[in-house]
Amino acid sequence: MTRVLVLQGPNLNLLGTREPEIYGRETLDEIHAGLALRAAELGLDVVAFQSNHEGDLIDRLHVRDFDVAIVNAAGLTHTSVALRDALLAIQRPFLEVHLSDPSTREAFRHVNFLSDIAVRSIVGLGSRGYHLALEDIAQRFGGTRG
Ligand code: DQA
Repeated sequence: MTRVLVLQGPNLNLLGTREPEIYGRETLDEIHAGLALRAAELGLDVVAFQSNHEGDLIDRLHVRDFDVAIVNAAGLTHTSVALRDALLAIQRPFLEVHLSDPSTREAFRHVNFLSDIAVRSIVGLGSRGYHLALEDIAQRFGGTRG
């Protein structure tokens, strides 16, 4: 069974109350519960990890106990050479997801250290983006069910 790591960056633990007009009202736990249900339908094994600390996110990637990742690096998307290097070093494909579309927001969000090394970037679709990423993974890398 394809093992999927959902890696969530800084401040995403505050989803639900954090700028809901931009990020919606769903909490991170609710998003992860929805992903667990969808993953079961698709025959994917999914594990989620959130941290507000760059090094913890990098350490989690180094464990390499997954086949493919879904990464919302949040603010680190726009700043972190170290996270980019980690994603390259571990040699696991990843899909990038953002709830909002950073390219339509402030100029500093137009800088992206991850998109050119991602298999695909899904932006601006809210939590639906994570579901699309799971479905894409099932198609590309195989789930055990449809
Ligand atoms: C975000 C977009 C980033 O620019 C921002 O720093 C976030 C969330 C998103 O999911 O839309 O924290 O990654």
